[in-house]
Amino acid sequence: MAEKIIMDVDTGHDDMVAIVMAAGLQEIELMGIVAVSGNQVLEKTLSNTLKVCELIGADVPVFAGMDRPLLRPQLIGGDIHGETGLDGPVFPPLCKNAEPIHGVRFIIDTVLAHPHEITLVPVGPLTDIAMAMRLEPRLSSLVKKIVLMGGSMGKGNRTPYAEFNIFADPEAAHIVFSSGAPIVMMGLDVTLQVLLDDPLLQRFRSRRTKSATMFGDSMTFYTKACKAHGSEHPAMHDPCCIAYVAEPSLFTLERRDITVELQDKLTYGKTYASKSEDAIGNTWVGVKADAPRFWELLDRAFDSLP
Ligand code: BDR
Ligand code: CA
Repeated sequence: MAEKIIMDVDTGHDDMVAIVMAAGLQEIELMGIVAVSGNQVLEKTLSNTLKVCELIGADVPVFAGMDRPLLRPQLIGGDIHGETGLDGPVFPPLCKNAEPIHGVRFIIDTVLAHPHEITLVPVGPLTDIAMAMRLEPRLSSLVKKIVLMGGSMGKGNRTPYAEFNIFADPEAAHIVFSSGAPIVMMGLDVTLQVLLDDPLLQRFRSRRTKSATMFGDSMTFYTKACKAHGSEHPAMHDPCCIAYVAEPSLFTLERRDITVELQDKLTYGKTYASKSEDAIGNTWVGVKADAPRFWELLDRAFDSLP
């Protein structure tokens, strides 16, 4: 049976790849997508999400989530993802509309309607998930699990200590990691093992479908932006979460307790991972990825998309 998931995205180049994978793989039943502010302001991440869904023919409801972090001033990732948040591809004029209810409400209602069946897949700042947990305290015990992109047991990418999604809303991340919900953390430890090099980019581009052309155009921009920031090849951060849901055996996980630094000015947003002797942590952290099998999964997703 396909895994029922709700994605929470700040689309974004790698978010786009995650949507492509989720829409294209038969192992996944995509119940809805909520857009949150992060890589760009909400208006742009929402519009990018709608455009991607429309172009790849994903008939999935899209919702607007929170337009700012819980406490901190808004931080966007325009240096990596460009002015639109998804620079590179040219999209046709947008027809698809966002649904008329708030994304946080959609998350709560869907989880309550399908207790223990829904996997939440947040791949941006955790603002919506934290809000949903505060509005509906039963949420953390009623989700199947949360598979999130964020954090790092080593270095950060937004600061030397903190990864972008956690740094953008550390208080929200604290609420989620301390909720008791079962969590799989796909942090930089594992996502930096799945890098799109030029031969891979050409391999996907050569499909010449609409979806693969959008992928190629956006990855060309993303590659240049990452190079300008000192990384040779862009990492497929967010799609690691979808790959894990579809095919968990692609990843090796280790059990940890995660705490988020909220006080220290230098290190705030850092995710501290303590190794519990009794393995009582509620978070499983990705430490190793099988990159060749990840690309096979993406190939399979493109096979079923226009
Ligand atoms: C995360 O930050 C964003 O820029 C990406 O979309 C990803 O979710 C990586 O640190
Ligand atoms: Ca993201």
